[in-house]
Amino acid sequence: MDRDHFYSLMNGEGTFDYEVYLNTRQLLSCQKAFGEFCNRDELQFQIVHQVEELWMKLAGYTLLDIDDYIQQENTNRVLTLFRRVHLTLQLMTDQLRLLETMSPKEYQEIRLQLGHGSGQESPGFRVLLKMHQPLWDSFQKHYLENHGLTVEKIYDGEYSHSDAYVVAEAMAEFDELFQKFRYHHLQLIHRTIGLGAKSLKGRSVELLENGLRVQFFPELWEIRNRMTDAWGRQYGAVRDSVTGH
Ligand code: HEM
Repeated sequence: MDRDHFYSLMNGEGTFDYEVYLNTRQLLSCQKAFGEFCNRDELQFQIVHQVEELWMKLAGYTLLDIDDYIQQENTNRVLTLFRRVHLTLQLMTDQLRLLETMSPKEYQEIRLQLGHGSGQESPGFRVLLKMHQPLWDSFQKHYLENHGLTVEKIYDGEYSHSDAYVVAEAMAEFDELFQKFRYHHLQLIHRTIGLGAKSLKGRSVELLENGLRVQFFPELWEIRNRMTDAWGRQYGAVRDSVTGH
């Protein structure tokens, strides 16, 4: 096939209304020019990262709306928008798998292109790391304190599957899906450069394991421990086998 012919078709003219509205001319030139790639995996590498940045932009933007709706106690809106954030994080995690189609050797060629760049410089990731505290503060004020509720009451003492409870569960899911992204990203590193490697900033890759222990909403995880411990105190933490042996 005539590569140059198809390359120019891929970029499009940029003049149809569809192309103008979506700014495809600029979008499709956000990657290196076809002749500049260091190998045939580099386009995929750039696109996956760029798409992930777009999903993180959408997630961050949506979390701002969620915060507004939490302050209005508009639970239907909060849940619908959290679903959007959850799906976005799932897509981000699923998309990492595309990079499994790149061999470790070919990645080393791409790595040479990155300077000392690090995913920790990702604007989308950095903003998502800053949003959980204001969200928690809004949730605590509007769904809990204003109604004389606590996390313990909505999960256990006064459990009724209330609005506060379903919003809390949506927040826990956001927390969990963010963790899953971090976990699968670490698996991808394991597969591509190895966990024993050093980042392009000279840091041990193993340091990323600390991120796996970060919880956005620790109170929502701690309540489960406390409920299980309380249950254990009541019925016995270690129980007899159902078979009687
Ligand atoms: C072959 C694929 C990839 C490799 C080998 C890789 C490797 C790495 C390494 C070594 C680090 C640690 C950097 C440091 O300590 O400064 C890192 C961090 C990071 N990377 Fe990747 N990465 C890959 C793909 C991706 C993709 C597709 C994304 C999409 C968003 C991404 C986002 C991030 C983020 C957000 C961090 C910071 C993570 C944290 O602090 O927990 N990476 N990556």
